[in-house]
Amino acid sequence: MARLPMSSDGRDELAARLLHHGAERLTPGASVVPAIVPTAVFHLPGAPSNAPYQYGRFHNPTWEALESALALLEDAEVTLFPSGMAAVAGTMFATVAQGDRVLIPSDGYYATRALADQFLKPLGAAIEERATAKFLEGGFGGFKLVIVETPSNPGLDVCDIAAASRLAKSAGALLVVDNTTMTPLGQRPLDLGADAVICADTKAINGHSDALMGHVATRHGTFAERLRDWRKFSGTIPGPFEAWLVHRGLETLEVRFERMCDSAAAIALRLAESKKVVALRYPGLTTDPAHAIAKRQMATFGSLISVTLRDQVAAERFIESCPLIQPSTSFGGVRTCAERRARWGDAVPDGFIRMSIGLEPVEVLWRAIAEALDRV
Ligand SMILES: Cc1ncc(COP(=O)(O)O)c(C=O)c1O
Repeated sequence: MARLPMSSDGRDELAARLLHHGAERLTPGASVVPAIVPTAVFHLPGAPSNAPYQYGRFHNPTWEALESALALLEDAEVTLFPSGMAAVAGTMFATVAQGDRVLIPSDGYYATRALADQFLKPLGAAIEERATAKFLEGGFGGFKLVIVETPSNPGLDVCDIAAASRLAKSAGALLVVDNTTMTPLGQRPLDLGADAVICADTKAINGHSDALMGHVATRHGTFAERLRDWRKFSGTIPGPFEAWLVHRGLETLEVRFERMCDSAAAIALRLAESKKVVALRYPGLTTDPAHAIAKRQMATFGSLISVTLRDQVAAERFIESCPLIQPSTSFGGVRTCAERRARWGDAVPDGFIRMSIGLEPVEVLWRAIAEALDRV
């Protein structure tokens, strides 16, 4: 039976515990902040099993500090990877064999499709795609691995995670939810029955746009072990310094994410009134087609807004003329940023912009956005 999305009390409790996580292990004089341990080798006399650490590709205390903090938030075992895509790749290569069928979103992050097409398919896996909004249609019969992204990047369509989990269970498929756009504080796919969660920690979890990172969380011990073996033998390992930076970023996730989501909700409401806006997607708008499901399964509606202006020229002028919008291809950072997704080949109109709302005080940000809209 799927657990309900966590109450706001539950989230507050988790956010508070995160800041004191690991304190019980401190001895007098120990550093309260995790140490950066930049070593490839550990002192290893005699039998390797006598030592907690053996070699830098197998484990690292700085990764472990971040993994255990993320494990607290996810309430699951966490395996860290050096980027979100490394987490996606680890999930695919740890599960899929020749002849397996894999279902992925047709409208999610394009690199997941590229990875499956260029590297899984030639090994003999069958890759199928479905639009996020219709992801459940046809069920999951015959699939080994099902990866869904909700809300999807960049279209912000939503898939019912509890219903997907039920379908996956009855079909014997492994359901993995890419939760990058929401983080474990905004949406809890494992509580809704998913087998694993992928998160690109490069985005809101780190939040400062200065490191890449990713993780997979699962409550299935054997799957976690397989992911660790994949990491160890493929050598897809995070750097200790990056892990330390992401740990520092994670400590302020709750305040950053709350502000970003509150501002995004306020800005989406105002964009909905603008005559310059041709189309708008934000799952928090009551008029949004994804709102009913979003309300059921998301604790907040996220920091991303998808807004379509008249055409490419209007979209580029809007982005370039707004002093509080950083043109860049990422999201979840402290600075508001935006980009025209058609420039990467996403199947969206030329004037479609994915906007990630940052930490700027919302009234100042809105004034800058409104003035830039006036100029297009
Ligand atoms: C939904 C989603 N998943 C995975 C990734 C990959 O993350 P990374 O860039 O850290 O490899 C991204 C990156 O934008 C993403 O948006």
